[in-house]
Amino acid sequence: MSTVNLSVLKEQSLESINALNTPTDLEGLRVKLLGKNGEITGLLKTLGSLPPEERKSFGGEVNAVRSAVTEALAARKEKLDAIALEEKLKSETLDITLPASPLATGKIHPISYVMEELETIMERIGFTTVQGPEMETDFFNFTALNIPENHPARQDHDTFYLKNKDENGERMVLRTQTSNAQIHSMMAHGAPLRVMSVGRVYRCDSDMTHTPQFHQMEGLCVDKNITFAHMKGVLHRFLTEFFERDIKMRLRPAYFPFVEPGAEIDIEWTYTAADGTQKTRWLEILGCGMVHRNVLTNAGVDPEEYQGFAFGVGVDRLTMLKYGVNDLRTMFEGNIPFTHHFGMDAAKVRK
Ligand code: PHE
Repeated sequence: MSTVNLSVLKEQSLESINALNTPTDLEGLRVKLLGKNGEITGLLKTLGSLPPEERKSFGGEVNAVRSAVTEALAARKEKLDAIALEEKLKSETLDITLPASPLATGKIHPISYVMEELETIMERIGFTTVQGPEMETDFFNFTALNIPENHPARQDHDTFYLKNKDENGERMVLRTQTSNAQIHSMMAHGAPLRVMSVGRVYRCDSDMTHTPQFHQMEGLCVDKNITFAHMKGVLHRFLTEFFERDIKMRLRPAYFPFVEPGAEIDIEWTYTAADGTQKTRWLEILGCGMVHRNVLTNAGVDPEEYQGFAFGVGVDRLTMLKYGVNDLRTMFEGNIPFTHHFGMDAAKVRK
């Protein structure tokens, strides 16, 4: 091959390289020129058969062509890569003005939310929040509340008895009612007193409106000249605030050993029955009454000087009624969709 032809080969090769637009075509041409059976490789193979003086000059020229072609291939490859990257960036634009995707946040369980709400309402009416233990002695859960040993009322409570004994060897129970807080608070603070206490209570019982662990709110007001009318007023005010409307309530005489007279309050509950129809029934939500003089005496308050009223509310039932939960048990199954549906955003909890 003459020098002229070599320079034509070089020119044509460079021209083709720069006309190619894909890495694949570029690779194809590289093989065609520089591959094992490539055109330029072929020329290098002929060097051996040339006379020595020609071999040197021709070899130098072929090598120069090879270098030029190799460089041109690399340059074109770089160019094509840069174009491809630019196109990719253009088609995959990232819109940094889009709002971030929301973080998965938990919700406050309706029972927890309602307990806070009850505290808020009762504090507004003038009651202070106190706490009572869940592991309780027989004395605070029963005896001091005028329910002595062998009293038939003990049987109504389906008590969970504990193996533990307290430091005086007294039998312990899981409290069956928040009324233990009445005794603790009167013993600690005396009279006059206006306290409320919300928390867990336990009875071995389970159906649509009972769970072995549930929640109560206790209210206790002890002062001079306290009457049944004060109690009715506070309870009506409390229920109206809680349901944010004037609810229908009825008072039925009822027996609790620690009050005299005693009553139960039912409120009207409209719910969707299994067959889809709307039904109305009365649901018992709280027990109340004038604090029995024996209870005042047991807690160190003089019944000749002070009177009081007390009430105990089923927190879970209030929650069912307010938020339309039909089966009490679903509230304690740790069901996340349930909590998402009925729960509250932390930011919205009113304080
Ligand atoms: N402790 C009672 C119960 O659990 C309710 C109650 C409280 C009744 C206070 C009267 C006074 O059923």
